[in-house]
Amino acid sequence: MHFQLALTLQAIWTAVCHAAMQHYPAAWGHYDVCKSQVYSEDGLTWDYMACQPEAADMTQYLKVSLDPPNITCGDPPETYCALENPYMCNNECDASTEELAHPPELMFDIEGRNPTTFWQSSSWKKYPKPLLVNITLSWHKTIELTDDIVLTFESGRPEQMVLEKSLDYGRTWQPYQFYATDCLDAFTMEPKTVQDLTQHTLLDIICTEDYSRGYVWKYDKTVRFEIKDRFALFAGPRLHNMASLYGQLDTTKKLRDFFTITDLRIRLLRPATGATMVDENNLSRYFYAISDIKVHGRCKCNLHANSCVYDKEKLSCECEHNTTGPDCGRCKINYQGRAWSAGSYLPIPKGTANISPVCDDELLRCQNGGVCVNNARCNCPPEYSGLLCEKSRCDSEAAGCGSRESGQPPLTPPSPCGLLTLLLLGSALLREAPCWPAAL
Ligand SMILES: *[C@@H]1O[C@H](CO)[C@@H](O)[C@H](O)[C@H]1NC(C)=O
Ligand SMILES: *[C@@H]1O[C@H](CO)[C@@H](O)[C@H](O)[C@H]1NC(C)=O
Ligand SMILES: *[C@@H]1O[C@H](CO)[C@@H](O)[C@H](O)[C@H]1NC(C)=O
Ligand SMILES: *[C@@H]1O[C@H](CO)[C@@H](O)[C@H](O)[C@H]1NC(C)=O
Repeated sequence: MHFQLALTLQAIWTAVCHAAMQHYPAAWGHYDVCKSQVYSEDGLTWDYMACQPEAADMTQYLKVSLDPPNITCGDPPETYCALENPYMCNNECDASTEELAHPPELMFDIEGRNPTTFWQSSSWKKYPKPLLVNITLSWHKTIELTDDIVLTFESGRPEQMVLEKSLDYGRTWQPYQFYATDCLDAFTMEPKTVQDLTQHTLLDIICTEDYSRGYVWKYDKTVRFEIKDRFALFAGPRLHNMASLYGQLDTTKKLRDFFTITDLRIRLLRPATGATMVDENNLSRYFYAISDIKVHGRCKCNLHANSCVYDKEKLSCECEHNTTGPDCGRCKINYQGRAWSAGSYLPIPKGTANISPVCDDELLRCQNGGVCVNNARCNCPPEYSGLLCEKSRCDSEAAGCGSRESGQPPLTPPSPCGLLTLLLLGSALLREAPCWPAAL
């Protein structure tokens, strides 16, 4: 029996590691099935796998709120001039006339309508007092982002804005990214772009000038938060090695949390002016207008559900594996015989319904003096790295020992084969699923 298991493992190891070297086909790791029936010595039994809902357009399920609440244009009616031409004043906003109103819902309707539909703020009448607007998007559910957040501005893109996120239903907020024509001046931050990020600095919050600069605004209308470029730091430029990303997401909570949200907030701090000087005689040229917001993601179900339903204006996971809760975050009542745990993407390609330990005090010991923390990671002495502290840093760094950065713990993944071997082993040893019935 054990011999057979070892052989099977060996076969998987060979297959998987071979694939890893040649890069994974994109089809790997759909995680769309939660369980399947298998024949074994004991007859027909269930095999449980990690599963997650398909990614979808998440703007269908959100609530939008504005602060100040009366910042939408049209009450009283107002006429706006074009930013590039103060004599072109044919943009009328009147909240009481449907064709001339610009309510917030128009940020989420179908794009590509002609004429374009958009939300618009009232103009910068109180200049030089800043024109501040918060647009808050709430899901009342944890969401995992799977693609770039894209905002399309109908007038110029703002000269200063911040994208913020919340992971606790709006109680606390963290910045996601700062945007400015001049990052130093606006936020005393060095301008950076997503291309400056590495695996080590992926969680850094940057200020970028990429989406607000210059007069090209007329054609360049979008402001992005680049999710895919960040994924690519682990999964490769065309995201062909998702296994590497999934492996990293499994073992690094901070990384997983980085892409997880319950709310987003767009803080508009300064509208486009198209010039260094604001034309105080014609403030009706300055306002915000957004025609589209894209947020792509999936319900976070802790890998215990492959569908998520929208009922009574609320999203919730349809939990499997004897779990329950909006995120499948606990065991069903009478199934608390074993502690709850999240599912795991590993081993590739199907994962397991429970998370396999990275380390323990027996077979998966941390090496070179490392200490196992919560069975989830080894705390390595500074000279060593790797999942089990098996690598000397000097060997693993191309630049040698002199170039070590301090501060942030490195997020560098171990080689795919090493990682997969360890996790295959780990999961084979502890294959039982979570949430068993309490004593029968
Ligand atoms: C919104 O309401 C506040 C207070 O009720 C008022 O001071 C402000 O002028 C209003 N803003 C707009 C744009 O109507
Ligand atoms: C300024 O705005 C008004 C409307 O508020 C418009 O009639 C006028 O043509 C604009 N341009 C200049 C240069 O004053
Ligand atoms: C917007 O949100 C920030 C915090 O995220 C808050 O300080 C500010 O008062 C809010 N309202 C406006 C109009 O900026
Ligand atoms: C759920 O509970 C049943 C017993 O009712 C058990 O056979 C099964 O293995 C459990 N499933 C998981 C994924 O833990």
